[in-house]
Amino acid sequence: MRIDVFTLVPHAFAWLTEQQPLAGVLGGELELRLLGYRDTTPLRAGQVDDEPYGGGAGMVLRVDVVAAALDAVYGGAPEHRVVALTPAGRPLTQAVVEELAEEDALTFLSARFEGFDDRIVEHLCSDAISVGPYVLSNGDLPAMVLLDAVARRLPGALAEGSGELESFSEEFGGGIEYPQYTRPPEFRGWAVPDVLLSGDHGRIEAWRREHVR
Ligand SMILES: C[S@@+](CC[C@H](N)C(=O)[O-])C[C@H]1O[C@@H](n2cnc3c(N)ncnc32)[C@H](O)[C@@H]1O
Repeated sequence: MRIDVFTLVPHAFAWLTEQQPLAGVLGGELELRLLGYRDTTPLRAGQVDDEPYGGGAGMVLRVDVVAAALDAVYGGAPEHRVVALTPAGRPLTQAVVEELAEEDALTFLSARFEGFDDRIVEHLCSDAISVGPYVLSNGDLPAMVLLDAVARRLPGALAEGSGELESFSEEFGGGIEYPQYTRPPEFRGWAVPDVLLSGDHGRIEAWRREHVR
C-alpha cells in the first residue's frame, strides 16, 4: 500500500515512522510519502492560507494550494481515495480502518488554523474522516492515528493472529478484549484470576471468551 500525507509539517511524522509496528512495514508493505503544501504552493513566500470570506478569526487553507499540491504529485485528481481529516468527517471506527487497509493507495489531507476551504473537501476529496467529536489544532495527529491504525492491519505488521484477536475485532463481536495480566501473580493483595495461572488452556480460553466486554 502507498499512503501520501499532505501536511504543513512533514517532519512532525518523524517520531511515528520510528515506532513499531509502522516502522516494520515501512519500505515493504507500506510506502509512505510526507508532502508539504508549501513545496508546491503557487503563491509567493510559501503562502498556503488566507483570511475567511465573511470575516472571523483564523486562516483557511486555500483550495488552489491543495489543488496545486495534488497536481504536482499526481498530475491531476488521483483515482484512489483522498481523505480529508476534518471534524466534519465520518467518525473513525475499526470498521473504517479495515476498509482503508484494503486500499492499494490512500491520500490523507491535513489542515490547520481554521481548517479547509470547503471546496477542498467537496471537490478534491472522496472521503472525510473525523477522529472524534472534539477539535484538535491540526490534522497531523488525526493523520498519524489513521496511519498507525491502518499500518497495523497490513501483512506482517503484527505477530501471526494477534490482529484478529483485538478489541473491536469480528472475533470478539466488536467488543473489547478480555483483561490481560502479567507477573507478579499478586501485588498489594490484587490477585490475578486463578484460572489464568492454571495452565488449563481450555478453561483459560473459556474465561477469556466470557470476559470479552
Ligand atoms: C482547529 S481545526 C479546525 C476546526 C474548524 N474550524 C471547526 O470548527 O470545525 C484545524 C484542523 O485540524 C484537523 N482536525 C481537528 N480536529 C479534528 C478531528 N476531530 N478529526 C479530524 N481532523 C481534525 C482538521 O484538519 C482541521 O481542519
